[in-house]
Amino acid sequence: MDIISYVSEMPKAELHLHIEGTLEPEMMMALAEKHGVVLPYTTLDEVHAAYNFSDLQSFLDLYYFGASVLRDESDFFDLMWAYLVKCRQQNIVHTEIMFDPQTHTDRGIAFDVMMKGYLGALKQAEAEWGQSFKLIMCFLRHLSQASAFETLGMAEPFSDDIDAVGLDSGELGNPPEKFSDVFAAAAQQGYQCVAHAGEEGPPAYIWGALNSLNVARIDHGVRCLEDDELVAQLVRDQTPLTVCPLSNVRLCVVDEMKDHPILTMLDKGLLVTVNSDDPPYFGGYLNDNFLAMVGGLGLAQDQAKQLAANSFKASFLDEEKKQYFLGALDSF
Ligand code: HPA
Ligand code: ZN
Repeated sequence: MDIISYVSEMPKAELHLHIEGTLEPEMMMALAEKHGVVLPYTTLDEVHAAYNFSDLQSFLDLYYFGASVLRDESDFFDLMWAYLVKCRQQNIVHTEIMFDPQTHTDRGIAFDVMMKGYLGALKQAEAEWGQSFKLIMCFLRHLSQASAFETLGMAEPFSDDIDAVGLDSGELGNPPEKFSDVFAAAAQQGYQCVAHAGEEGPPAYIWGALNSLNVARIDHGVRCLEDDELVAQLVRDQTPLTVCPLSNVRLCVVDEMKDHPILTMLDKGLLVTVNSDDPPYFGGYLNDNFLAMVGGLGLAQDQAKQLAANSFKASFLDEEKKQYFLGALDSF
């Protein structure tokens, strides 16, 4: 089997995907029309032209603006459903999906409107084709810890449906330590913990996420390479890093795909995985990330298989399900 077919068809998990970041321009324009929201673009070309980011913040400005077209339960359902259909097409047999409640509750959308839409789509995909999933509720780090606590409270009726808490949005100036109390409370309530760190932020933010938030995984984490002691610890503890190659190129974390350090990270023994982050904004879904690595980095089949195996090992699935998916990958 050629490498393109192999990476496209192999069973894989996705562990770093923002559902609000899967909003395709077509859906954004349709929902804007439905709700009478005036967008600063009239054509798809104009939307695509706006996807020319200089850094994380320039993307976040557009991402939060785009999410403002999501208003009623069916909007949240449709957004989630469209991504789950991609999972089926790309053989993403398990996905751990991040969502940002504050992006909606801060503009007056009720937590349960959002949640019922998302869960409706997830349950339907589970029933129709056995889609495996977990949910990660992220706190926006540019907001206060008090706001994160409020969000944790709102999630209580859905605590059986939410597996983990995470931390996203603008990294620089918002170190992990700002959220140590709310992460401790979330852990106490039984949630797993993850956090974005070392995307734009320095290695100190990765240390902070490990030591102050007790996270089980680091989202991005590419800047760990600047600190040998940190790399040694991440290798020793096999702490997963959910790396997002196309995102890193589009947000200028690296210059070009050929400069991306993900295969160096793999060689060092880090438990790295491949993920899409915010696919339409960054140029593609999970398979597009693998294909970009084939083209830009010469990704080989054994490396692709290792990355897919890592995605199951790094997941929050129980041991039996991990072994099941690892077995399916092995016999693929
Ligand atoms: N980084 C931080 N926050 C985000 C991202 C990201 O890549 N995507 C959506 N929110
Ligand atoms: Zn992210």
